Amino acid sequence: MTSADVRGKRVLCRVDFNVPLDGDRITDDTRIRAALPTINWLREHGAKVILCSHAGRPKGQVIESMRLRPAGERLAELLGAPVVIVPEVTGDVPKAAIAQMHDGDVLLLENLRFDPREEKNAPTMAMELAELADIYVNDAFGAAHRAHTSTAGVATFLPAYLGLLMQKEVDSLSKLLDHPERPFAAIIGGAKVSDKIEILSNLVDKVDHLLIGGGMANTFLLAKGKSVGKSLVEADKVNLAYQVIAEAEAAGVALHIPTDVIVSNDINAEHGDVVSIDAIPDDQAIFDIGPETARSYAEVVIGMKTVLWNGPMGVAENPAFAGGTRTVAEAVGAADGFTVIGGGDSVAAVENLGLADKIDHISTGGGASLELLEGKELPGIAAIPEDA
Ligand code: 3PG
Repeated sequence: MTSADVRGKRVLCRVDFNVPLDGDRITDDTRIRAALPTINWLREHGAKVILCSHAGRPKGQVIESMRLRPAGERLAELLGAPVVIVPEVTGDVPKAAIAQMHDGDVLLLENLRFDPREEKNAPTMAMELAELADIYVNDAFGAAHRAHTSTAGVATFLPAYLGLLMQKEVDSLSKLLDHPERPFAAIIGGAKVSDKIEILSNLVDKVDHLLIGGGMANTFLLAKGKSVGKSLVEADKVNLAYQVIAEAEAAGVALHIPTDVIVSNDINAEHGDVVSIDAIPDDQAIFDIGPETARSYAEVVIGMKTVLWNGPMGVAENPAFAGGTRTVAEAVGAADGFTVIGGGDSVAAVENLGLADKIDHISTGGGASLELLEGKELPGIAAIPEDA
C-alpha cells in the first residue's frame, strides 16, 4: 500500500469492524485499533478514506442492532477526528456524502452484509462499490477467508493493495510457515481434534516440537491406550490422532501430550483434582492439563526461537481449570523467540493476563488465521496483485 499515490484519491478501504457489542457498547475494540495504522497512513498521505466492513451475519437484511454506527463513533474517538457515518452501502446516498469529502477525511459505509449480494461476491455490487472510489485497500484480515464482494470481487475493478494490518498478519504468519527460525514449537489446544487436524497436519513437518493440550488432547490419550473416564473425546477421530502421531514420528518431531491432568465431575466445579494420565477415574472428566505437563510445556517454549500458540489448554473460562492456559500464556510471554498467537480463546487468555504486549504478533483473525495456518490460500489475499 505504501507504494500507492493516494493523494487526493478516494480510497475504498475494507476493514474488519466486526466487533462484539453489548447493546450499543463495544466490549472489545481491538479490531478497530488494529485498523488505525492504515487509516492514519491514508489520511496523512491525503486520501479520502472510505471505510467499509461487515458486522455480524444479517444475511442480506437490514438489522438495526447490526448497524456500524457504534464502530464509527468509536473510530472517531480513537482518531480524534470526525467520521461521517453513512447509513447505506452503495447508491446515491454514499455518492453524495463522498462528493463532500476533503483530503484526509474519513467516511464509513453501512454494514456490507445488509446487501444480499455481498456474500455472493456479486459483480454488480463490486462495480457499485468500485464506482465510489479510485483505489481499493484490503485491511480486513479477519474476513480474508471469505470470498465476498468487498473482500475479493471489488479488487478486480480497482487498483488493489493490501493494508498495513493485512501485510503484518501475512508477514508474521508466513514467516512461521515458510522460514521459521529454529527451534520452532507449536502449542495447539482447543476442544476438538477435528477442528485442528488440518493445522496439525500442515505444521507437523515444519516444527521441532508439537505440544497438544485442551479437549483435543483427550483423543490423543485415547489413541495412546489411556482410559479417559467421562472426558470429551471424539472416539471416531482417534485415527486422526494416530495419523498425527505417525507423521510426527516420521518427521522426527517431538510430540508432547499431557502426562497429568486436572479432573472433576463438574465443568463448573470450584476446584479439580490433579491425577496422572494413568489414573483418570471412570466417573470424572479432564478439564485442564496438569501442573507437571504445564511446567514441561513452559520449559519447551522458553528455549524456542519461534513459538506459535493456538487454542486454550483447558476450560479456561472457569478459573479452576485455567491454570494450564495461564502457565502456557506466561511462558509464551516470557519466551525470547518470535511469538505468535492466533485464535480467539488463546488471544483472550493473554489479554486477560495483561501479557499481550509481550507477544510479537497477536492475530486479529479467528477463522482467517486458522485457514492460513492450515496452509490454505485466503481469497482476500489472493485477490490482490503480489507486488501491491
Ligand atoms: C470474524 O469475526 O471471524 C470475521 O469478522 C469474519 O466473520 P464471519 O465468520 O461472520 O465471516
